[in-house]
Amino acid sequence: MDKKNLVLIGFMGCGKTTLGSIVARKLSFSFVDTDKFIEQQEKSIISEIFSKYGEKHFRDVEKKHIETLSLRENSVIATGGGVIKDYDNIMKLKEKGVVVYLKSSPRAIYKNIGRDNTRPLLKNHTNKFVAIKKLFRERTPLYEKYADITVDIADININKSVSVILQAYENYDA
Ligand code: S3P
Repeated sequence: MDKKNLVLIGFMGCGKTTLGSIVARKLSFSFVDTDKFIEQQEKSIISEIFSKYGEKHFRDVEKKHIETLSLRENSVIATGGGVIKDYDNIMKLKEKGVVVYLKSSPRAIYKNIGRDNTRPLLKNHTNKFVAIKKLFRERTPLYEKYADITVDIADININKSVSVILQAYENYDA
């Protein structure tokens, strides 16, 4: 039987895209980043979708594309940080995939994206660290609830994170 997809969930800026593409190469899986896919399909960047049509519209668009992407096989799927806000998204992704939560910390996330102004949910906050901490607290229970596997990558480098993810996935009895 084919192995299940490896679905990465976690807070924005935790490294889903970077780590996912390396992990996919190591597994000889294809790699897809749901935000990039949305941008290609909608011919618009995420921040523009948010600013023109609002978050509700983005979530509807995201849901539509997650439905398509969750049907893929032999894939590593890196999701947007808010994918867990919709129960159907997760259930679809779980049908053919193992959901791996990349657990990070507000400090590590701030280090990665504190100066990045492309994230619509953080853009208008003068104190981004406070905004990250608040959203992190709200989202953590959802990531934990839906994860088949949790991998703590807060204080480890990219190479180590890749090997921890691969090991957890290989050992997971789906
Ligand atoms: C979001 C995370 C973003 C993107 C959108 C909303 C969120 O993806 O989908 O800005 O709600 O956490 P990344 O996790 O890739 O930054």
